[in-house]
Amino acid sequence: MVLVRGRFRSRLGLIFAASGSAIGLGNIWKFPYMAGQNGGGAFLALYLGIVFTLGISIMLAEFVMGRAAERNPVGAFAKLKGGWWPLAGYLGIAAGFIILSFYSVIGGWTIAYLVKTAAGQLATADPQALGGVFGAFTTDLWEPLIYHGLFMALTMAVVGRGVSGGIERASNILLPAFFILLLVLVGRSLSLPGAAEGLAFFLNPDFSKVDAGMFNAALSQAFFSLSLGIGAMTTFGSYLSPRANLPGDTLWVTFLDTMVAVLAGCLILPAVFAFGLDPAAGPGLTFITLPAVFSQMPMGGLFGTLFFVLLVIAALTSAVSLLEVVVAYFIDERGFTRARAVMVFGTVIFLLGIPSSLSFGVLRGFTVAGKGFLEAMDYAASNLLMPLGAIFTALFVGWVIFPKALAEATNNGSLPFAWARPWGLVCRYVAPAAIVWILVNGL
Ligand code: PHE
Repeated sequence: MVLVRGRFRSRLGLIFAASGSAIGLGNIWKFPYMAGQNGGGAFLALYLGIVFTLGISIMLAEFVMGRAAERNPVGAFAKLKGGWWPLAGYLGIAAGFIILSFYSVIGGWTIAYLVKTAAGQLATADPQALGGVFGAFTTDLWEPLIYHGLFMALTMAVVGRGVSGGIERASNILLPAFFILLLVLVGRSLSLPGAAEGLAFFLNPDFSKVDAGMFNAALSQAFFSLSLGIGAMTTFGSYLSPRANLPGDTLWVTFLDTMVAVLAGCLILPAVFAFGLDPAAGPGLTFITLPAVFSQMPMGGLFGTLFFVLLVIAALTSAVSLLEVVVAYFIDERGFTRARAVMVFGTVIFLLGIPSSLSFGVLRGFTVAGKGFLEAMDYAASNLLMPLGAIFTALFVGWVIFPKALAEATNNGSLPFAWARPWGLVCRYVAPAAIVWILVNGL
């Protein structure tokens, strides 16, 4: 049993930690290829619309639940109401296992690309050659597996050190450095010959292409990128000081995460068009495009190495929040020590990730609903578990504990909260209705 709960130390602790969770592979790896597969500008427009209505509302709802209950997602539902509600929390714990299992595989890829870039193995602008390297790497049996194990071991090491020691410190340096480097790279990408076409693809919406499938893609990407629907933000909220400004912090985290995604789009998609790649190529898109951009820069090897260092750290801080969701539950509710929870469930998640890692190589022929194993895991979590978790969170906060939630969000009325009314409306009606509509029509 934990007698003294870990807490963030600084006022900015939540913004840094929650942004560290939100900003990761979802922004740099997934967002550009999702936008590429779903028509560019129209997807971006839907995405922004969803983020700034449903996204901010659910994020605030999770922070509020976490701080009010000072518990993991299961414990929070149980303490605030009980009954069947904790089941929604279990959904989140399950999603944590699934997401981290494949997230760690892609995290491993980024470490491998860091090594390859630093060793100068990717210094070419030839998309054919870069596609070949990517193919050879991901179809290999051992190499991606070893990097998956390494990534998982790093995640376990950080989570093992606890909330303010590991998680808070790891997040603080990263964010400013990451922004600056992204801006430099965007500058290079946009000045490539032929980049304008890619920028137009990304920024000019063609609304004639919008259908329920695109809504579904934008919704799942929004939840994935903002770390919503699995209780990650609930868990962070539980480590908060009573003085934190939850509505204000929510806006900051959402804004920062969205900035990074849009910058990643402005980095990858113009380069995709400049090098004649296919924007709908899928999960390999970022890994094939980035080295080509680096090769066109003075000191590209250095910039590339630095970029992958920062991307690995960004991925780690997200992975840490995923493992923390699982670990917090077993510490709070099942009497595990932190060390034991990290060892046991880190190992389980590593094992669960093995088929995802192999799904580009020996298991390529093994598909679930027409998708490779990794993409099927991602789909199950992002398109099903996360939206479901978000519906329950919205309903719970909007209908079951709303007066208490409002008091929590405003620190008992002492903070201004301009969007209190729309927040209530979104939690009660808009979010549940919209997500159900998208799930029913888009799946
Ligand atoms: N938001 C993270 C990213 O974009 C992934 C994540 C999802 C982290 C859910 C925690 C919970 O990389």
